[in-house]
Amino acid sequence: MTKVFTHDFDITVRVRSLALADMAEADRHLCCEAIAATMRSYAPYSHFHVGAAIRLDNGEVVSASNQENVAYPSGTCAERATCYYAHSRWPEARFEAIAIAARGTGGELVGHPIAPCGACRQALLEYEMLAGHDVRVMLIGSERVYELPSVRSLLPLAFTDF
Ligand code: THU
Repeated sequence: MTKVFTHDFDITVRVRSLALADMAEADRHLCCEAIAATMRSYAPYSHFHVGAAIRLDNGEVVSASNQENVAYPSGTCAERATCYYAHSRWPEARFEAIAIAARGTGGELVGHPIAPCGACRQALLEYEMLAGHDVRVMLIGSERVYELPSVRSLLPLAFTDF
């Protein structure tokens, strides 16, 4: 049951800013898998290559990339490609963390981290709720990685039930 606030309230998110080199080994590995996935992106229309990697509680790391289509809305973002594949391949496993990377039209890693679109936030939230615990989110830029504590922190006041 969602709590109802009878007074004004703030929503704040703590974002950690990390250097890739300073990250724990498992997280750095996840980031490297997301960066590697950008190389397998199919983005002939936008030339914006996104990769994502999800670590599951069974130890598997699943990665995927954005897949575009000549009928533009039929394409899908890297984050949704990854979470849908992860959960269809290992439906019993729970998500632990997700990393997201992107390369721009020049082929270089984006300077500042990109964040998932609204539709991907909603899709990822479903799996965080299934997990029953926070799923950390790492947004990768060439200089810093932004780490958020949960998917929910990216989607405050989310639609979660009806
Ligand atoms: N894209 C993603 O894969 N993830 C995001 O979070 C934002 C956008 C893709 C969709 C499209 O293929 C390209 O980037 C440009 O929008």
